[in-house]
Amino acid sequence: MRRRVFSGARPTGNQHLGNYLGAIQNYVKLQDEYQAIYCIVDIHALISLEDTGLLQGNIHNMTLDWLAAGLDPEKSILFVQSHVPEVMELHTLLSMVTPLSWLLRVPTFKEKVKVQPQNVNYGLVGYPVLMTADIVLYKAELVPVGEDQLPHLELAREIVRRFNNIFGDTFPEPQAKLTSLPLVLGLDGKEKMSKQLGNDIELALSEEETVARIMTAVTDPARRYRNDPGHPEICNIFRLHKYFNPSGTDDLANQCRSAKIGCVDCKQLLAGEINSTLRPFRQRRAELADNPKYVTEVLADGAERARRIARETLGEVKQNMGLL
Ligand code: TRP
Repeated sequence: MRRRVFSGARPTGNQHLGNYLGAIQNYVKLQDEYQAIYCIVDIHALISLEDTGLLQGNIHNMTLDWLAAGLDPEKSILFVQSHVPEVMELHTLLSMVTPLSWLLRVPTFKEKVKVQPQNVNYGLVGYPVLMTADIVLYKAELVPVGEDQLPHLELAREIVRRFNNIFGDTFPEPQAKLTSLPLVLGLDGKEKMSKQLGNDIELALSEEETVARIMTAVTDPARRYRNDPGHPEICNIFRLHKYFNPSGTDDLANQCRSAKIGCVDCKQLLAGEINSTLRPFRQRRAELADNPKYVTEVLADGAERARRIARETLGEVKQNMGLL
């Protein structure tokens, strides 16, 4: 049997370039080599009860982006977390072998306590346990994630080790599979590209919107006039050029340093590169968007396939825990 890969992503809606370069492209590559399972984690999204009215639309748009980017439901299982309720059962069972002290020292938990002190709920503490349940319900061995998820994965491994020690070998220890790409920064050139921060470039924008969006980007702050020499090594637009036109960047860096090219022209070039890279994606997305029933079918089929695996694992878990 092919080794299993599992990853989850929160239903943030329309995906942006950071999602694409950092996660989705990697997902697409992995589906040829592994049995890949990709999950839209709607239950995890409930930790901050904002905008739950947007959830269904976000799930739909995210699925459209995934499919248009090349995730293939014939190869991979694509599904929505809550459509396989077994994960909540497993979460409860795993919570019994997870010391509270482990959860209280998770960096993302401590951060959340600061960000939403008025809503430090039980689910927030259990977030990494639910994430562990996601992964081990499918006995996944590899988990493609960004660096920010490493503490969660370490915890998942600890929970698995403890479970296996107490109840006998049940789950493989999941390994993180980091993307080779460094963090993709947003248009502010400071923070990670993120929809919440409003510094993102959505994949599904039109070509004109893409140009307009890139024109708002911060470049080298020392370059105030057209004839000032630029510093490409600190410019986020230059960094994005490297993703989209890696062979042309030496030349561009020289032109920037000698002020032969201005920031506006440089941004136009970048928008052109992004638009031509995304043209096939956008075309396919528009076709898929015309057929919303197809998206629903893909997710229903994915949930059914995922559920078959989930039921089997859960049966084994209950057996090992003495519940059957
Ligand atoms: N916590 C992950 C994030 O915020 C999302 C996630 C939930 C996940 N379950 C997962 C990632 C399982 C990998 C595997 O990005």
